Amino acid sequence: MNDGYLYLFIKENDMGPIGVFDSGYGGLTVLRSIVDVLPNYDYLYLGDNARNPYGSRSFEVIYQYTKEAVDYLFEQGCELIILACNTASAKALRSIQQNDLHRWGAHKRVLGVIRPSVEYIIENSQTGVIGVLGTEGTVKSQSYPLEIAKFSLKRNMEVFQHACPMWVPLIEDQSIDTTGAAFFIKRDVEALLEQSANIDTILLGCTHYPLIKPIIKQFAPDHINILSQGDLVAESLKMYLKRHSSIDIECTKKSHIKFLTTESTNLFDERATQFFGEPVSSHQIVLD
Ligand code: DGL
Repeated sequence: MNDGYLYLFIKENDMGPIGVFDSGYGGLTVLRSIVDVLPNYDYLYLGDNARNPYGSRSFEVIYQYTKEAVDYLFEQGCELIILACNTASAKALRSIQQNDLHRWGAHKRVLGVIRPSVEYIIENSQTGVIGVLGTEGTVKSQSYPLEIAKFSLKRNMEVFQHACPMWVPLIEDQSIDTTGAAFFIKRDVEALLEQSANIDTILLGCTHYPLIKPIIKQFAPDHINILSQGDLVAESLKMYLKRHSSIDIECTKKSHIKFLTTESTNLFDERATQFFGEPVSSHQIVLD
């Protein structure tokens, strides 16, 4: 059956926007790139701003919160959800895929941001020595070293990590242009680079960090490639939808974007613009 015929058999209630979830604003940097690469699709963004940051929370809590968000997005009609949050991808994605996806039906999909980043890094690092900056949750989960080891069978790679627990609060509070912020950013970048002189790639392993990339760059040598994840995730999603036409067909395409937050909409709209790069008008929801 070709895609045209298949389309006729898909019920409208089996179609919906692509869900994009983050603990707060960071996922908007990923959504920006996805919309730039795939502008025709519809998107439903959900930021759990009332309960973030997730970065220092336990596995149980992050799993529970992420599951509630995924539940909500599926109830709204999403067929495919991107966890645009490293902490949720590191701590909740696998459990959700293994324990929960079946409750929503065989055709529902949840994808994360770690795999696309890892695939790109393995292909593009010259030295094979990688630095990862992320939240405490992401770093402690060891997701990046484990995934890089798993997918880099043909080459020997080394991964050094450093957790930056101050960065998300500084970014969320819009305090990044202060001397205090520069102090923490310099301290953390140096703590990563001190671990190896051969690092040639630094992955910003938290979707909030692209907002401070220009400041991070000031404290790293020029030859180091500093990677934001948005473009990597967007390209990977584009290829995924090409490979899985039965999922692609279930994604509605009217170029419509809706924003949901668990915080007050005034606050969200004001700050989200900085992350998304254009005015945002959100709706408040409650997750439980
Ligand atoms: N943006 C999230 C990430 O990519 C983390 C932010 C948080 O700590 O809530 O890990």
